[in-house]
Amino acid sequence: MRGIFISMEGPDGSGKSTQLELIKKYLEEKGYEIIITREPGGTKISEAVREIILNKDYTEMGYMTEALLYASARAQLVTEVIKPAIESGKAVISDRFVDSSAVYQGMARGLGVENVYKINEFAIQGMMPDLTIHLDLPAKVGISRKKDQKELDRMEMETLDFHEKVAEGYRKLASLAPDRIFTIDATQDIDTIHKQIVEKIESLLD
Ligand code: TYD
Repeated sequence: MRGIFISMEGPDGSGKSTQLELIKKYLEEKGYEIIITREPGGTKISEAVREIILNKDYTEMGYMTEALLYASARAQLVTEVIKPAIESGKAVISDRFVDSSAVYQGMARGLGVENVYKINEFAIQGMMPDLTIHLDLPAKVGISRKKDQKELDRMEMETLDFHEKVAEGYRKLASLAPDRIFTIDATQDIDTIHKQIVEKIESLLD
């Protein structure tokens, strides 16, 4: 039996982590063995790469370097965690995956979505999510939520214009892949969002 692979996407502060925990509980109750991962990160090496990418001191980091670092962290995560889990029938839920690179690096940084998917084709080794939950919310709302929670990292410190490109980029990407990417209005309350996600997963499992 092949497992299922779900990714969570959206601008910074869209509530992915909260919803991810709720999906985990729901799928566990259904008897699935769940593996939770996050990007960039999820393995010792990928977490080390994350430290480099998000370090506020590296203001000189080039966009191509950034894109390749995200892809390298992803390659390790796929090899070490995602691929073996899917192949052994588990359910993997990842807080971000390749669409984050398509949107942040491809669209907001302007490297081009095609180029970014090309780099990542090598990293993901055929592992595309069965379902991607896109939590849609205005950039301003997401960033102000982040500011209230913690100190901002290198990406979160970007301009509002950048984050607006991200939010818009996700909407565009979702319109290009409507069969895989499911968009939800993330300004709704936590329970309402969760119910909509559950409905979508149920239809996927059927
Ligand atoms: P995330 O872990 O979601 O941030 P936080 O834990 O602070 O909520 O993601 C880290 C940042 O990296 C976020 O701003 C999005 C960005 N990112 C990319 O630009 N490209 C990528 O491929 C990924 C996975 C993340």
